Amino acid sequence: MPVITNIQDLKRIYERRVPRMFFDYAESGSWTEQTFRENTSDFEQIRLRQRVAVDMSGRSTCGQMIGEDVAMPVALAPVGLTGMQHADGEIKAAKAAEDFGVPFTLSTMSINSIEDVAEATTRPFWFQLYTMKDDDYIRRLIQRAKDAKCSALVITLDLQILGQRHKDLKNGLSAPPKLTPSTIANLMTKWTWGVQMLGAKRREFGNIVGHVDGISDASSLGAWTAEQFDPSLDWGKIAKLKEMWGGKVILKGILDAEDARMAAKVGADAIVVSNHGGRQLDGALSSIRMLPQILDAVGDDVEVHLDSGIRSGQDVLKALAMGAKGTMIGRAFVYGLGAMGQKGVTTALEVIHKELDTTMALCGERHVSDLGRHNLLIPKDFEGRWQA
Ligand code: GLV
Repeated sequence: MPVITNIQDLKRIYERRVPRMFFDYAESGSWTEQTFRENTSDFEQIRLRQRVAVDMSGRSTCGQMIGEDVAMPVALAPVGLTGMQHADGEIKAAKAAEDFGVPFTLSTMSINSIEDVAEATTRPFWFQLYTMKDDDYIRRLIQRAKDAKCSALVITLDLQILGQRHKDLKNGLSAPPKLTPSTIANLMTKWTWGVQMLGAKRREFGNIVGHVDGISDASSLGAWTAEQFDPSLDWGKIAKLKEMWGGKVILKGILDAEDARMAAKVGADAIVVSNHGGRQLDGALSSIRMLPQILDAVGDDVEVHLDSGIRSGQDVLKALAMGAKGTMIGRAFVYGLGAMGQKGVTTALEVIHKELDTTMALCGERHVSDLGRHNLLIPKDFEGRWQA
């Protein structure tokens, strides 16, 4: 096994081990992938201020996200089909997060079910909700998350319909994969994945299959979202969902100052500034570029987290120094999972932690809560280049 020192090392192993269809699913953005690319390249534009002769002993990355203690302000984002990246992927990622001391978020479109993850872990996890037309199903899903003692409901707002992802359409993405000559040819080169998958607890969408009457085939993410997701989701419905849940609510997919103000108004405990990893509205600006104006708009009214584009502890530091209270990683942990299962997720978290801690030290800071704009060098036109 090669020495792994960064997230890109995990990605290289991941690409070799996981069927093309699922690698492409994780690794693509929508349409031209401009937003997907800029999510990472915009982080590169932000530079760090080197400080010296500062006592750097006794550093800590510990903090809190929505009042929960975290070993570093990095939660695992909800990622659909995680259990197709590795057998029992959601269980393995949740266990790695629990051992490390960071939140895990289970996607509605997961392979392992809410109950599977609850049974395998003790730390309460967050449950991510996609709203669907079937109100009764949503009520039951929320009740299942309550019964599993999930500590937050993460409502995703930027995927009422699916952004067009060319690779997924061409690959005929489904879970489990449909056996066509090209998928069979590709699967034949992924033996370890296949053997592990034969022993998996599930190979279908665990929160859906067996829980929705009259649905015989929920295997295609594209078809399922088009048929079932609720395109009429609005602020009134969000307020009702919040009431139905009765606990902490995180609204994910906010990329606009006005929407951020609305989210604070409906009483969200946190928002996630996110463009869904560049998988939804291609042409939208990166999360890190939109963060300052969203922070200005909401002040202290709501806790602000950020995802989309984070591939290193340095990116985490930049987001925190820009003013986010927490971050989420998606692809960065999926690479680790696909590469090496639970150990790979742990490795991804260790890599990010080490990068965050070392960068903090070299910036002359000892605690994540001390990070601020004073640590950054930002191009003059970074925020003001595009006008509405
Ligand atoms: C679902 O969350 C997706 O981005 O595919």
